[in-house]
Amino acid sequence: MTLQPPFNPFVPGWGELPPHLAGRAAEQAALLGLLAYVKAGRGSPRGVILSGPRGNGKTVLMRWFQSEVEASAKQLEAVWLTPTDAQNLDDLATLLVPPRRFSSLRPDKLSFSIGIGRLGWELGGRPGSLTRLLAERCKQRPLVLLLDEAHTLKRELGQALLNTSQSVSAEAPFLLVMAGTPGLHVHLNAMSATFWSRGEKIGVGLLDESAAAEALTRPLAEQDSPITMDDAALAQVVTESQCYPYFLQLLGASLWASAQERGVAKIDAALVAQARLRFDVERSAYYEDRRDELKRRGLLGVAACLGRTFRGRSPFREHELDAAIAADASSDGTAPDVGECRDALAELGYVWKAPGDEDRWRPGIPSLMTYVLDHSGK
Ligand SMILES: Nc1ncnc2c1ncn2[C@@H]1O[C@H](COP(=O)(O)OP(=O)(O)OP(=O)(O)O)[C@@H](O)[C@H]1O
Ligand SMILES: [Mg+2]
Repeated sequence: MTLQPPFNPFVPGWGELPPHLAGRAAEQAALLGLLAYVKAGRGSPRGVILSGPRGNGKTVLMRWFQSEVEASAKQLEAVWLTPTDAQNLDDLATLLVPPRRFSSLRPDKLSFSIGIGRLGWELGGRPGSLTRLLAERCKQRPLVLLLDEAHTLKRELGQALLNTSQSVSAEAPFLLVMAGTPGLHVHLNAMSATFWSRGEKIGVGLLDESAAAEALTRPLAEQDSPITMDDAALAQVVTESQCYPYFLQLLGASLWASAQERGVAKIDAALVAQARLRFDVERSAYYEDRRDELKRRGLLGVAACLGRTFRGRSPFREHELDAAIAADASSDGTAPDVGECRDALAELGYVWKAPGDEDRWRPGIPSLMTYVLDHSGK
């Protein structure tokens, strides 16, 4: 007999949305605004770049958008990709234009030269052929391409994809949406300055307090046996979450589990205290993962140094950030490139600057700096 885990609305299945996607109305409106072009049979005037530190909800925002695209009655299609799915142009072409489905695009029917092997398209390494093929496909069935973890895209393939995306959008209904950690802007900028500068840049950061509260209360209230929270308990949980979406998910799941165990329909301070025990364990495990990631990249020392400099202080200016990085570098006599180090810390989301938030850097993940400092062994 297999034991089913008890139902918990805050633990969505793989690829599912959170029970309530809170506080992203502006971001959703921006995405729908560009989708309107594709629905009207036109290419989007801009590609979208969603960026933000880990756990803030980039992937769920893209999942929501995917469901919007697929729910529209206009025969639009969405393809979801991560860079590991496509190692080269042929893979990319085969995923975006499945040859079996688009059999009318057989090589003998096209005015440009490509081949087709047993497994998919053979473009002979020519990005221009990808552009032609994708444009023909989008004229038949409009396409929205959703690329998650785009900060890991290989440079050569990324360059081809960004250029293709711009050319295809100019002649066919197509939209490219990418999501990645704050290092994405450096990565994309190095591949295509025009894509980056013309792109719709959307920062995905912490929620505001009312959205954080809603992310908890709405799903609790919408169950068959609704659960409410008293005001003091809600305020306490929102503070505890630091309005960080991933912590809201963990807290929601703990609160739900504790409420079920105790059979209560109203969450009060005592129940929050119980739920916090479980949350603390999971939050520590998450911080530990982030700390290991920094360590693997050789960034733990500088991360701790930033923790010492900026603990509890946010935002800070780029020159202050660079000075703190340089101070750490000089402490052991090495001289790594400050800009490279800043980019690497941004790629992991340890620090970030939201698009449009001029020269205001912030810690990426709430209280991670404090954790790293307390566990750096220095
Ligand atoms: N707007 C939101 N409202 C409620 N919950 C959210 C929201 N955004 C994210 N979450 C919760 O936070 C969790 C983390 O979100 P998600 O995986 O999308 O983050 P991410 O930015 O893609 O992180 P990573 O960079 O690690 O991939 C989700 O599982 C979801 O439960
Ligand atoms: Mg993600």
